[in-house]
Amino acid sequence: MCGIVGYAGNRDVVSVILKGLTNLEYRGYDSAGMALRDGDDIKVYKTLGKLINLKNELESRKSELIQPTCGIGHIRWATHGSPSIVNAHPHSCTCGKLVVVHNGIIENYKELREELTVKGCVFKSQTDTEVIAHLVADEYSKVKDLEKAVRNSVSKLQGAYAVCVMHKNVPDLIIGARKHAPMLVGIGDGENFIASDTPAIIEYTKKTIYLDDNEIAIVTKDSVKITDADGNEVVKKVEVLPWEPIALSKLGYKHFMLKEIHEQPDVIRNVLNGKLYDIDAPIVLNEVKLDKDTIKNLKKIEIIACGTSLHVGMAAKYIIENFTGISVEVEASSEYIYRKTTTDASTLVIGVSQSGETADTITAIKQAKEKNAHILIVTNRPDSNMARLADSLIPVNAGIEVSVAATKSYIAQMISFYLLAIHIAEVKGTLDDVYLKNLKHEIIQLPTKVEEILSNTTTIQECAKKFSSFKNFIYIARGVNLATAYEGALKLKEISYINATGYAAGELKHGPIAMLDETMPVLSILMPGGITYEKILSNSEEAKARNAKLIALTSSKDTNIDALFDVVLRVPQVSEILSPVITCVPCQLLAYYIAEFLGKDVDQPRNLAKSVTVE
Ligand code: F6R
Repeated sequence: MCGIVGYAGNRDVVSVILKGLTNLEYRGYDSAGMALRDGDDIKVYKTLGKLINLKNELESRKSELIQPTCGIGHIRWATHGSPSIVNAHPHSCTCGKLVVVHNGIIENYKELREELTVKGCVFKSQTDTEVIAHLVADEYSKVKDLEKAVRNSVSKLQGAYAVCVMHKNVPDLIIGARKHAPMLVGIGDGENFIASDTPAIIEYTKKTIYLDDNEIAIVTKDSVKITDADGNEVVKKVEVLPWEPIALSKLGYKHFMLKEIHEQPDVIRNVLNGKLYDIDAPIVLNEVKLDKDTIKNLKKIEIIACGTSLHVGMAAKYIIENFTGISVEVEASSEYIYRKTTTDASTLVIGVSQSGETADTITAIKQAKEKNAHILIVTNRPDSNMARLADSLIPVNAGIEVSVAATKSYIAQMISFYLLAIHIAEVKGTLDDVYLKNLKHEIIQLPTKVEEILSNTTTIQECAKKFSSFKNFIYIARGVNLATAYEGALKLKEISYINATGYAAGELKHGPIAMLDETMPVLSILMPGGITYEKILSNSEEAKARNAKLIALTSSKDTNIDALFDVVLRVPQVSEILSPVITCVPCQLLAYYIAEFLGKDVDQPRNLAKSVTVE
């Protein structure tokens, strides 16, 4: 969603902020802006649409600038007020001396706006953010100290915020504050940064301080001071970011999404590294902080997540129940938080999130924590807010994922669940030794099998071309691959804007079949070796009888099925229980090539954001 970059230092301030915002672009946005300290003045630039527009605007007005010494930049994903220049950040107070950028939502903005209007503040935008500018300016006029003014003001805000503030009367100072929205300070040599996420600063420094809720950062080019809500200085740990700037390069691929799909074999190896290395050795999962007795006595697991991560959870239910016999409930975070749940201290609650910042999942996890459940977080961002709520944390180590549509984080989360399920099974003794060894052997082979798919994508590309003109799609599967059907359909929707729905194949005849005709292709995921192959084959026949065009995604070598299906996407053979790792890849590629063929903005689909930090 929105992104913040602040910089104080001797480099070209405009370039540093633009670069930082570019590295946050993947989060999704609709407008951008920058405020620059230039001599005695603060100059504000805002544009609608992509960052290139802001870059061009700054370029065309270059002659206005003498030599900016610090600045704050923002990309906005509209929540309050439509995407427009007036609603884009930075926002200013009435006299224009104070500027602010903000991520999050101020829930009490209406009350604050009324109070400030009565005081004479003139509002220009429809945003919740503008109240912060007026509020801090009002406080500053009273206390004449920007740090105090920010502290007093944020204490009046309800909701979530990461804010950066500059004031014309306080040269070369940026103040940042956060609550329920991420913010970090990047430490450089004679330069410092504030940002809402690490990619914004990774090109310049790896030294980072993560702000906690209610903390305030007072940043100049030569100093960083962090205080708590009472103004006491806090000594914070300086962490070193694990990523290299190269992670933000497409490395010759046309899109980040394609690059990230191709990274998946190595991502799987990474997840397995040190955890599953020998089929005769137990899984090493030291991240799980539950003792053996607790694991043995576990009666219920709840998995809470959104979107693609929720689909991982759906597959995980099959995997965990199959390996351990423990009952697993899977629920969308946005549903979990608005009902009376049965979560209690004996429940293992697992939050799954690539970003670790999804507002609904964070709220759900907090609710579960209040009920004293053990919280296990599976995430690609061990530095995230969600990770900080964890009693046990499994970082999935997929590396930074730039494409909004999740791919490699999906596969990394999935592999983590296999390891978790086997770990629990080993503690409980629920799997037979021979089965366990074969299973581990197969898991170790998975990267090679994914490589096999990626080494020849011609059929998938041809299929994409053939089907790109259809306006609707149905994906069907059963069992553990039902999650793949949901995920495959979601991928297609997200990046090509084609309407696609995943169904349990057995449900087709209970309603959706009414939609079938030659305009509604059906993609069937049918992996032999399990108990549902023949059933899905029959469901596909039923679709064929209604003139639907059919695509098979299968490892079956049976050439008879080639007559039933219009296209057969063949994948390597693997046990049905492990097959979601294999079947997800052609689904990702099919969605990618259809979107690419249609000329869509693959990495930054419209209306979507990489971190959904609002409810
Ligand atoms: C789709 C996608 C989203 C996210 C969802 C939850 O490609 O990435 O559906 O999975 O917004 O986000 P996280 O996983 O960050 O909690």
